[in-house]
Amino acid sequence: MKLLIIVTTLFVTYSISHAVTTSEEAAVTRDILTLIPTDGNQQRAGILGGFVRLAFHDAGTYDRNNPETSGKSDGCVDLSAPDNAGLSTLIDLLAPVVNRHSLIMSRADIWNLAANTIINFSTPNRGGTLNIPLRYGRIDVADATSACSESDNNKLPNAELSHQHTTAVFVERMGFTQLGTFFFLNQQCTI
Ligand code: HEM
Repeated sequence: MKLLIIVTTLFVTYSISHAVTTSEEAAVTRDILTLIPTDGNQQRAGILGGFVRLAFHDAGTYDRNNPETSGKSDGCVDLSAPDNAGLSTLIDLLAPVVNRHSLIMSRADIWNLAANTIINFSTPNRGGTLNIPLRYGRIDVADATSACSESDNNKLPNAELSHQHTTAVFVERMGFTQLGTFFFLNQQCTI
């Protein structure tokens, strides 16, 4: 019963019922692109990398064995966790885009689209080779920074641990293959 109450409280949903069209996706993408500073390499890098890190930290708590209570990609990162330090700036930056398009996409979808937009923007052949398809329909929890503190608790991968740990997190808990995990972590090193 207690679990049921926790789950019900955590997963207060903002359900968006229609499929996102290409022109809606393009409109949100345009707004995300306006957030990238045109000068100041350090600031640009912080925002470009930061959007990708935000999307990963939202999703990196996923547990395929307990998908509903795992803190999957739900538009929330627990800001009281040290691993999420620095992400509030990115959340605040994206907030106007989230508010403007709240009838089209969830906050979690917009965070994912922001990461995707940045990856696409950062590839030399923009709009060409690296165009990762995205599916929409992620369901947000009540707020972006605290509603997931229980579900996300201590689930992000630990930078101090070994291959056994990344296997436990990415393969056993999240459901990637070893090869997928290798490429995923390589991606982190190249961003
Ligand atoms: C074992 C898995 C991982 C660990 C332990 C880890 C840990 C870290 C740490 C400690 C940082 C530095 C944070 C800081 O600036 O204080 C970082 C940055 C970053 N991580 Fe990860 N990470 C992992 C996986 C990933 C993955 C899979 C992605 C992308 C999908 C990712 C994306 C990033 C990005 C883009 C940054 C740079 C953010 C910036 O420039 O502000 N990480 N990560």
